[in-house]
Amino acid sequence: MSTSPTDARPTRPGLTDADTYLVRLAHRSMREDTRALALALRRLPNGSTRGARRLRTWFVRFEAVMAHHQTEEDEIFWPALAEVAPAFAASVAALEVEHDELDRSVSACGHALEAVAGTGRAAEREAAVAAAERLVRVVADHLDHEDRTYVPAYQAAIDPETHGRLSAAAVASVPPALMAFIGPWFLDHATGEDRARLVASVPAPKALVVQGPLTVRYRRLARDVRAARSA
Ligand SMILES: [Fe+2]
Repeated sequence: MSTSPTDARPTRPGLTDADTYLVRLAHRSMREDTRALALALRRLPNGSTRGARRLRTWFVRFEAVMAHHQTEEDEIFWPALAEVAPAFAASVAALEVEHDELDRSVSACGHALEAVAGTGRAAEREAAVAAAERLVRVVADHLDHEDRTYVPAYQAAIDPETHGRLSAAAVASVPPALMAFIGPWFLDHATGEDRARLVASVPAPKALVVQGPLTVRYRRLARDVRAARSA
């Protein structure tokens, strides 16, 4: 009989930080890139639309990553956790409200980027900086909330077998068009053991492609944000 992602029946609850490294990495990456976007926008020269267009193109991919991350929580991880963790179930509604606010902030940022990419004027750039700075705060507040509630509850209540099944469902739900971005994006933010775990999590030929041509393409797309991150 097949199982659905929500058929969580833990027999051996308890996960380690190593088991849940990917959610921590995703959260750190989103915090870092929203802050870098705000800085990259502040650095845009007046009257130039070229840099703004590059940031807008990058943001389309980043926005899709954020949307997928939320969807896998809403549809895969949270329903499974809510089944076995009553305290978490009681807090899901508040987290879902935050996802809605996050959607609005991401959308506002996208529109502001579109405007500055069209004109390059200081007024639109300042509006885009303000939208990006708001996104930084909304992302940080939401992820702080998840890191205090969802992540520890998940680690305590979900068993390794269920975690493996839910994670596989989450990976399978990544839209094919996003795969070429999300692998290099995770690798770009990962350090040390997390990087080794990521590489080991996919077949060797695929890991070579992600670390090679897909990373080259990703770095070209993300160059302004990456430069701002290391500033
Ligand atoms: Fe979330």
